[in-house]
Amino acid sequence: MQEIQIHNSTFESYLTENEIDSSVQKIAVAINSEYQDRHVLFIAVLNGSFMFCSDLLKKITVSCAVSFVKMQSYEGQETTGKVSELIGLSEDLNGVDVVIVEDIVDTGNTLEKLYALLNDKSVNSIKTATLLYKPEAYKKNLPIDFVGIEIPNEFVLGYGLDYDGLGRNLSKIYKLKKH
Ligand code: IMP
Ligand code: MG
Repeated sequence: MQEIQIHNSTFESYLTENEIDSSVQKIAVAINSEYQDRHVLFIAVLNGSFMFCSDLLKKITVSCAVSFVKMQSYEGQETTGKVSELIGLSEDLNGVDVVIVEDIVDTGNTLEKLYALLNDKSVNSIKTATLLYKPEAYKKNLPIDFVGIEIPNEFVLGYGLDYDGLGRNLSKIYKLKKH
């Protein structure tokens, strides 16, 4: 499928399954090397990161566990600037090495909120792995340690990422077509 229509927006093909898989592989190799002989707790940010998290974890060879938080900052194609925590973390995180798993880092608002939540729980370390990163939109100073692909400041869809709840099932990534 070259183009996808959702509501009144058209999306064009942007990243292939092969490009996505190589990026996931690159991130996994970096994490496996960084955390050799250690234990990692992956914290995936729902909903968007479910597909990336699943593919990434299949390539992780170090000792690990996975947990999920649910955060929301986007409505339609716009960031609201406010991040709400819809499902939180209940486990004891004292002394744990955390890798945050994000589908995409845009303004960094979600990341900042998550860092604050984790620091309150006295974790040992926090690093972030994201499949996509929009450097032009990023407004924070927090490090983004494992990046798959840097993309321009454009709205994308597929492989977990949605427009108004739709398109998460697509195995490729599409971007909004400009008229
Ligand atoms: P941030 O808080 O602005 O960094 O945005 C992070 C969240 O907004 C991501 O985890 C996504 O769920 C969502 N998001 C940001 N950019 C896009 C996009 O281009 N398409 C779909 N969702 C996006
Ligand atoms: Mg997300």
